[in-house]
Amino acid sequence: MNVSKVTEDIYQLSVNVEDILFEGLWEIPNGVGMNSYIIKGEKTAIVDGVCGWDGVPESLFKLLDELKIDPKSIEYLIINHMEPDHSGWIEDFKKIHSDFKVVCTQRSADLLEAFYDHTENIIIAKDDFTLDLGKGHVLQFVEIPNVHWPDTMVTFDTLTGTLFSCDAFGSFGKVDKDNYDDMLTQEEIDFFENEAVRYYSNIVAAFSIPVKKAIEKCSTLPINIVAPGHGIVWRKNPEKIIEDYARYASYQRGPAKEEITLLWGSMYGMTEKAVKHSIQVLEDEGIKVHVHRVPETDWGTILSSVWVSTGVIIAAPTYEYKMFPPVAAALDEIGKKKVCNRKVFSFGSCGWSGGAQRELKEIVERNCLNWEFLDPVEFKGSPGEEDLELIAERVKELVRQVKLTVNNL
Ligand code: FEO
Repeated sequence: MNVSKVTEDIYQLSVNVEDILFEGLWEIPNGVGMNSYIIKGEKTAIVDGVCGWDGVPESLFKLLDELKIDPKSIEYLIINHMEPDHSGWIEDFKKIHSDFKVVCTQRSADLLEAFYDHTENIIIAKDDFTLDLGKGHVLQFVEIPNVHWPDTMVTFDTLTGTLFSCDAFGSFGKVDKDNYDDMLTQEEIDFFENEAVRYYSNIVAAFSIPVKKAIEKCSTLPINIVAPGHGIVWRKNPEKIIEDYARYASYQRGPAKEEITLLWGSMYGMTEKAVKHSIQVLEDEGIKVHVHRVPETDWGTILSSVWVSTGVIIAAPTYEYKMFPPVAAALDEIGKKKVCNRKVFSFGSCGWSGGAQRELKEIVERNCLNWEFLDPVEFKGSPGEEDLELIAERVKELVRQVKLTVNNL
């Protein structure tokens, strides 16, 4: 729970959340920061009041108290996006204060009624709508639909050049009072870069085309500071997170980095034997590899790796005439995020019937992923020397193709 000054008249209130599944689904091993912002002109606005997890909004009220802001003095509640992690406190807020106006898009207004039955004093913000808070703080609103829900907009303070970007340019990872890029070490910035990839690939990835459009739309704004709803504030180098997001969006169609993700599962150690052999070959080839066994590894971690990898290796045995179910389930999730145009090699123990490779093709085709496959290697039972040699050969060919693809950009 932190309160800090972003810039003149603008403050951040942030609350960390951990030990939950984000959206009820995604593991967040390093937690997540939930950020609200106060803009104090002659009138006061709060942007994105955070939700009711773990002591919020009481903690948010406590932070307001630290700033000597009476919640009753807040005239505008700006909702950039209605997902309850940003809007969930409105019902509690109404218990102590009723005379406020909501500023949001029409789509948010519809959701506001559906979620909280709130229909009063709503100002609909469309592109280029402005709101003057006094003391020079004229707020401009820009709709960025589908980053991450259709209702989303960003709020821009024209005086300070602060972009309140909500889910856009956000990251996972707990934050503290020094959660500003100009106050962090390079190591800490790197940590948040990894957390941004995790956040992007888990939460925003499916909306990569809208992300590109949003970046283009926001490029007309003279941005000095990026203040997202999750993660750190970019004051020194706001271009970095915008460029990072443009890069992450481009990874959906590929190519991504010169890296390979090896996704695997094994029942009795036979496919595992070939996996260990492949890892050795990959290490000898000197390429960065992310190895994830399922069902032990969560989907969010797998997606983070696949998103940045140009090459993918799928190692799975056949199970009841189909692919080993945990691998198929992870692939389905990868399919929903539309991780396209990867170089792929697959292998596994085919038992008495085969079926894993067929299901792999079905998942890839059903999700229109356009993956380019090397010939798979299947072996009955445990892989023999010839199988392992063939697998090594294909793994080396995959590495060659990945390097060629990435370096021919
Ligand atoms: Fe952080 Fe889509 O809510």
